Amino acid sequence: MKRDYGLSIWGEENFVIEGETVNVNHGKHPSLLEITRQIREQGYKGPLLLRFPHLIRKQIDTLFGAFDRARREFGYRGKFRAVFPLKVNQFPHFVESLIEVSNGRKYGLEAGSKAELIIAMAKTPLGAPITVNGFKDKEMIALAFIAAKSGHNITVTIEGLGELETIIEVHREFNGEGSSIVAPKIGMRIRLHSSGVGIWAKSGGYSSKFGLTSTELLEAYEMLRREELIDNLSMIHFHIGSQMGEIAPLKKALREAGNIYAELKRRGAESLRAINIGGGLAVEYSQHQPNTHRNYSIKEFANDVVFAMQEIARQKGVEEPDIYTESGRFVAASHAVLVAPVLELFSQEYHERSLRLKPEGQNPPLVQELYDLYRSIRRTNAREYLHDALDHMESLLTLFDLGYIDLEDRSNTEILVNLIVKKAIRLLSKEDTDELKRLQNRIQEKYLVNFSIFQSLPDFWGLGQHFPVMPLHRLDQKPTRPASIWDITCDSDGEIAFDVDEPLLLHDIDVEEEEYFLGFFLTGAYQEVLGMRHNLFTHPTEAVIEFDEEGEWGITGLIEAQNLMDVLDDLDYDTGVIDKALKSSIEESDLIDEAEKRDLLGRLYLYLSENSYLKTIQSRESKE
Ligand SMILES: Cc1ncc(COP(=O)(O)O)c(C=O)c1O
Repeated sequence: MKRDYGLSIWGEENFVIEGETVNVNHGKHPSLLEITRQIREQGYKGPLLLRFPHLIRKQIDTLFGAFDRARREFGYRGKFRAVFPLKVNQFPHFVESLIEVSNGRKYGLEAGSKAELIIAMAKTPLGAPITVNGFKDKEMIALAFIAAKSGHNITVTIEGLGELETIIEVHREFNGEGSSIVAPKIGMRIRLHSSGVGIWAKSGGYSSKFGLTSTELLEAYEMLRREELIDNLSMIHFHIGSQMGEIAPLKKALREAGNIYAELKRRGAESLRAINIGGGLAVEYSQHQPNTHRNYSIKEFANDVVFAMQEIARQKGVEEPDIYTESGRFVAASHAVLVAPVLELFSQEYHERSLRLKPEGQNPPLVQELYDLYRSIRRTNAREYLHDALDHMESLLTLFDLGYIDLEDRSNTEILVNLIVKKAIRLLSKEDTDELKRLQNRIQEKYLVNFSIFQSLPDFWGLGQHFPVMPLHRLDQKPTRPASIWDITCDSDGEIAFDVDEPLLLHDIDVEEEEYFLGFFLTGAYQEVLGMRHNLFTHPTEAVIEFDEEGEWGITGLIEAQNLMDVLDDLDYDTGVIDKALKSSIEESDLIDEAEKRDLLGRLYLYLSENSYLKTIQSRESKE
């Protein structure tokens, strides 16, 4: 990894390294460290989720800009429209920022459940589109009718013929005698022959969970005609999967969907006017060249979509459709940065100063020999000494098991072998052998970080999706420690290890003396709502950072992570009963006097008002 932690690959110029810190490349370039410290000074400890609405605006402008340019270039007559799929991030500070920064764009929302539909109905400006996808029952369809009747531009995408029957039923109920005839627009999700891509590939292809086959499409078309709802058929929809790394599958899907659109138009679906290409526009998460995740630019993406639609419309003699996208990841990922403090380095005990060697002559001979190997290892003998050290370790551990050496000897063995391995790796760093790689893996320093992978990076846990990570400061100093990251859950899956070929190098720090923060980037899509409360670690404290016209920044929204009682309340514990149990166990104790009871109760209620994350586990906290 380059010294910039791959910022030039994944950063999209959103952040810059200036001096020793990584700064926001906007306004007066505040450093993430400065922002973090200001928030922590207000008493918020633990991980922080920083939201940057200007980065949401940037992505929306980029998306609309690319399609506007492509339409101009090709002389395309259909319009471009976009909705944000709420499943990607439903958190209020995100959605409210999204609506605010997209003002004037007629940017809408996509809903995949009743709760999301309620958000869409309440937050989408009138006139901007709402699309409704996923499986729906009668109530959900009725909600869409309510939205349409209250003036929303809403399209319900049918995923199966059963849903269409329900739409017809609800239509009859809502538009009976005496009521004004208004119904949502209808979209049809097609079951593509071409399959999806990437780890989310199941969204497309014949075995996909969603969409109508050709036979079902024709049947739906006839049903709409019979029910005189054909004028509501307005959209063809598909989605081939999220994080589409290559453009080729999209091109195939576009041809398939474009031809279905044209065929239905030619059959007489006059009101059919739009193709919704779903989401899938990928984000570059890679910190390493050449292992990048996306093989196309946004310009290429937009050009391909517009060109394909134009070609098909021309060939089949139908009007060019309006193009809808439902890009979520592309719009949301970059706006959020998770900042988490390092609490501890685990192999700091493998330090020369921790050795407890006895006076010469009193150490077991093999321990003494290890010490001599450590003192005299050089480049010329490194491989041989390394092998000797590993061999001695095996023997010494067996001697311990048999009771011949004591715990201090065993500790000296562990420290010395670790020091020898590190030295050997440094001396042999020009060699590229499997053995060396294995050893490098073994000595990755464990950085204990105050966050939960399950809560804040669930896609890493579930899918192995890596997110760019870098320290927020000391970037003018060469990092030397290949690191792996441990979270604070009691779960061995709560670790991010790095491949020896693509290591994460961090700084050697003394956590008792200094703060060290890691930033996890591109966490704004999917991670928050998929986050799990494993060990009851909750959504972290979040802050919205906005810039004024002079480029000054300020915190405009701050929501603290839930306190302990609220977490239990969410799990449906009766917190009144818990409160009573805790209180009475102190108040009714015969073992403590009144003054101590008051003190214990004071502490208890203070702790109950705080969240689950650790304050710090080092003595630094008491120095603060
Ligand atoms: C129907 C639909 N539209 C849009 C999206 C958003 O995809 P992305 O976040 O990759 O843009 C999804 C995600 O799975 C989806 O299922």
